[in-house]
Amino acid sequence: MSDPRIREAIPDDAAEITRCHIGGWRTAYVGIIPQEHLDALDLEERTAARRQALLEPPWPDTANWVIEHEGRVAGWACSGASRDDDLDPAAVRELYAIYIDPDLIGHGFGRALMQHALGDAVARGAASMTMWVLTGNARGQRFYRKAGFEPDPRVAEIPHGDTGAMKLRMCRRLES
Ligand SMILES: CC(C)(COP(=O)(O)OP(=O)(O)OC[C@H]1O[C@@H](n2cnc3c(N)ncnc32)[C@H](O)[C@@H]1OP(=O)(O)O)[C@@H](O)C(=O)NCCC(=O)NCCS
Repeated sequence: MSDPRIREAIPDDAAEITRCHIGGWRTAYVGIIPQEHLDALDLEERTAARRQALLEPPWPDTANWVIEHEGRVAGWACSGASRDDDLDPAAVRELYAIYIDPDLIGHGFGRALMQHALGDAVARGAASMTMWVLTGNARGQRFYRKAGFEPDPRVAEIPHGDTGAMKLRMCRRLES
């Protein structure tokens, strides 16, 4: 990986972010989420929704970043206050999403974005960070474990929206 640059995402990044997001789903979730659901993901529709979410984030204290490689968006991460009922949103940051361009997976871009999100959480005074990951997403879970996260034993696996898949919560304490 040469000279990656991480910066705050802007609404005009919506299409590139969505390309990484849909690509990530179609790479990581084959066999986990029904194929017809993956096939139906629509770039244009999702880009419009992403642009709107960048303009008016639906959750409090949201931060969006992109990582660039050779002048293109190589990945996207988004974090904000925890959305979980059992956690204090003032103390717990949630990594809402992290997706790397499927052609660039395994080159350290995810790790760099994760370090950035962790640093941001520490700077905001958060005590811990969580995220939800699909139970069948072994690569994702391995990545999170290497970044210091563990499955949260207080939470049972729960359904992921209407996709038929299950997800689990992982968490990590932060040192200030
Ligand atoms: C999961 C994902 C974000 C990881 O990003 P990536 O750029 O592929 O990962 P990296 O190249 O940065 O990680 C390289 C290695 O460093 C490890 N690593 C990552 N962060 C680390 C850290 N903070 N400290 C030490 N090691 C770390 C990774 O586990 C990986 O190890 P491996 O070679 O044994 O797999 C990416 O693969 C992806 O977008 N996947 C598809 C979508 C997805 O599953 N997103 C998560 C949704 S919950």
